[in-house]
Amino acid sequence: MSPVGAIKVVGISGSLRKGSYNSALLRAAAELLPDGMTLDVVDLAELPFYNNDVEQQGLPPGVQRFRERIAGADALLLAAPEYNFSISGVLKNALEWASRPPDPPMSGKPCALMGASVSPLGTARGQFHLRHVCVSLNAIALNTPHVDVTEARKKFDDAGRLIDQPSLDSIRQLLAELRTFTLRLRGETSAPVE
Ligand code: FNR
Repeated sequence: MSPVGAIKVVGISGSLRKGSYNSALLRAAAELLPDGMTLDVVDLAELPFYNNDVEQQGLPPGVQRFRERIAGADALLLAAPEYNFSISGVLKNALEWASRPPDPPMSGKPCALMGASVSPLGTARGQFHLRHVCVSLNAIALNTPHVDVTEARKKFDDAGRLIDQPSLDSIRQLLAELRTFTLRLRGETSAPVE
């Protein structure tokens, strides 16, 4: 566990796309972290498809590293694209690997969710499915605030920087809530973050 007041967050984007808006949300979050919080983003590209035969032979090194990074985190920040009204296969696959015993590393960890979509409807349906999966993993998903960046093409600049102030504000609030909740779970009190 991190020292008092310090919170190590591991960020996961459910998109492997170079120009991913969801990966860009994590970059935006990295610039909005409250005091004491750090963000370490993992790359899901090194994870093979979950296969129980492979698991029986011993976890592949990429999977082992992925699980260790989650295990070393105090909290998680998931940026989930919505694919066909659900989460991406890339993210679901990563969650399958994270879910396996012994010691599934997301169990009991606070988890903040966000998502970006090019559609005006956003990622609410996908995020709801993600909450459902979090229940299975015993990851504790924050209920609010909702960070759902709709019509993403209008809200990021050509360099992939989030430029929409309400979206930036909602990420800042989400991180503040993640901080408060994580400290509360550890039995530490927290000063409110502006
Ligand atoms: C999509 N997209 C999409 N968007 C949405 O709002 N609801 C949806 O159900 C889907 N479904 C969907 C399925 C598949 C297979 C693809 C490839 C795309 C569009 C999606 O929001 C868009 O591609 C985002 O840009 C994906 O996120 P990243 O890659 O930019 O992070």
